[in-house]
Amino acid sequence: MSNDIYLYGCPNHIVELYEQLTAQGDKVRSLKTAKADKADVDAAIQLLLKLKVDYKEVTGQDYKAGCPPSGTAVSNDRQSENGGEEDTVDPWNVATNSAKGVDYDKLIVRFGSSKIDQELVDRIEKVSGQKPHRFLRRGIFFSHRDMNQVLDAYEKQKSFYLYTGRGPSSQAMHVGHLIPFVFTKWLQDVFDIPLVIQLTDDEKYLWKDLSLEDCHRFAEENAKDIIACGFDVNKTFIFSDLDYMGSSPEFYRNVVKVQKHVTFNQVKGIFGFSDSDCIGKISFPAIQAAPAFSSSFPQIFKGRKDVQCLIPCAIDQDPYFRMTRDVAPRIGYPKPALLHSTFFPALQGAQTKMSASDANSSIFLTDTPKQIKNKVNKHAFSGGKDTIEEHREQGGNPDIDVAFMYLTFFMEDDEQLEKIRQDYTSGILLTGELKKMLIETLQPMITAHQENRKNVTDEMVKQFMTPRPLNFNF
Ligand code: TYM
Repeated sequence: MSNDIYLYGCPNHIVELYEQLTAQGDKVRSLKTAKADKADVDAAIQLLLKLKVDYKEVTGQDYKAGCPPSGTAVSNDRQSENGGEEDTVDPWNVATNSAKGVDYDKLIVRFGSSKIDQELVDRIEKVSGQKPHRFLRRGIFFSHRDMNQVLDAYEKQKSFYLYTGRGPSSQAMHVGHLIPFVFTKWLQDVFDIPLVIQLTDDEKYLWKDLSLEDCHRFAEENAKDIIACGFDVNKTFIFSDLDYMGSSPEFYRNVVKVQKHVTFNQVKGIFGFSDSDCIGKISFPAIQAAPAFSSSFPQIFKGRKDVQCLIPCAIDQDPYFRMTRDVAPRIGYPKPALLHSTFFPALQGAQTKMSASDANSSIFLTDTPKQIKNKVNKHAFSGGKDTIEEHREQGGNPDIDVAFMYLTFFMEDDEQLEKIRQDYTSGILLTGELKKMLIETLQPMITAHQENRKNVTDEMVKQFMTPRPLNFNF
C-alpha cells in the first residue's frame, strides 16, 4: 500500500493501515533480532512511528498491537484538522493559532511527505551544478515527495517535466502566488525541461460566485502575470481547462481514468466534500490530477506515458496530489514527485496565508509603490516592542515579524538578511527601519514585474496557450 492512501479515512483503508502497522512492527522486531544495520533499523522505526501518527489521526485512537480497529470511531483527516489544536491546511483554508505560522514539521508527519534536508539541498546543487535557490537555502521549499527518485533518473539522462498551476479567481494575483512560479522558473532554467501550467478556470467557476466568462478572462489575465515571470515560450505550455479539456482527447481520457479509480467516499475523506456540494466539485480533483501524466500532452511528449512529472506548489495543494499519487500506479503511470513550499503570510501575521479574497491581507502585483508603502506601514504585523526604549533594550522578535518574514522570501543576500535578523533581535534595528527595508525591496520588484507584464502582448499569450510541440525531443 502506498503512503498516500491512508488519509482517506474510510474503514477499508483504516484496516489496511492497521495491517501495515502490524507488518511494520514485525519488521522492526525481526531487524532488531537479526542485529541488522543501524540505519535500516532506524528507517524501519521512523516509518513505524509515522504510521502510528497517521493511525491516531485517522481513527482518533492509539494503535494497539492485536486490537484491530472497530470501525466505529472513524474520524477523517479534515475532521481531525478542524478539531483540537491542529493547524488547518487544505486547498481552501490555512489557519493556525501560532504567530510563528503553521508547524511545518508536524505537517510533514501528518501528510506523510519528507523533509527537504541539507543533504537533499546539496544533492540538488550537485546534480544541477547551480547554487541552490534562496527558497531552498532558507527552507521555504521545505517538503518533498520522491525528489531523490527524480534526481536519480536525471543523473541517468532520464528527463522529467514540471507541472504547476493557478486558480484564476480574480484579475490580480498577489506576491504569494509568485512563490511557486519564481521557483518553477529556476527549476526550468537549471534542469532545462518542459513545463506545463494549468489554469483552473473551471475550478473557480465551480467554487466561486463567478461567471464562466469571467473565470476564462481571469485565466488569460493571470497568464500574463505568469509569463511576466520570464518563462521561455519554447519550453512552456500554459492552458485553460475550459479550452484544453475540449480540444485534447488524451487529456480527457486521463481525467476519466482518474475518475473511475477514486470513490466519492475517498474524495469526501480527502477534501471534506459533503452531500450538498455540486457534482462538479466532486469530480474536479481528477482534472487537477491529469496534467501529472505525460500522456495528457501528446504534442509535447509524443504519446509517451512514462515521463515523470515534478510538481512545485505550496503545501495547500498536496491533497490533490496525494490522490493523484495513489491512483497513478493503478492506471499504469509513474507517480508525480512534489516540492512543497511554506506559505507567504498575510500582512496581519503568519496565522494565515496571504489570500486574494482579503485585499488588506495582500500585496497585489498591481499595487502602486504608494499602496505598497501604506499597506506595509499600516498592516504588516510587527515583532517589535511598543516603545523605542523598550525595543532598544529588549530587541524585536523576527520569528513573528511579517516584514522580516517577507524579506526572507525576497532578499537575495544571505549575509545581509542575517545581519538584519541579528540587528532586529538585539534592538539596533527598529520596526520602522525594518519596514522601510521591506518597502524598498518590494517596490522595485513589483514595478519591474509590472513593466514585464506590460510587454506581454495578447499574441504572446496566444503562443504560450496554443497546444504545440516544445523544443525537446521525446
Ligand atoms: P491558487 O491559485 O490558489 O494558487 C496558485 C499557486 O500559489 C500557491 N499559493 C501560495 N504560495 C505561497 N504563499 C501563499 N500565500 C500562496 N497562496 C497560494 C498555491 O499553492 C499554488 O501553487 N487549484 C490550484 C491551481 C492548480 C495548481 C496545479 C497549483 C492547478 N494545478 C498544480 C499547483 C500545482 C489553485 O487554485 O491555486
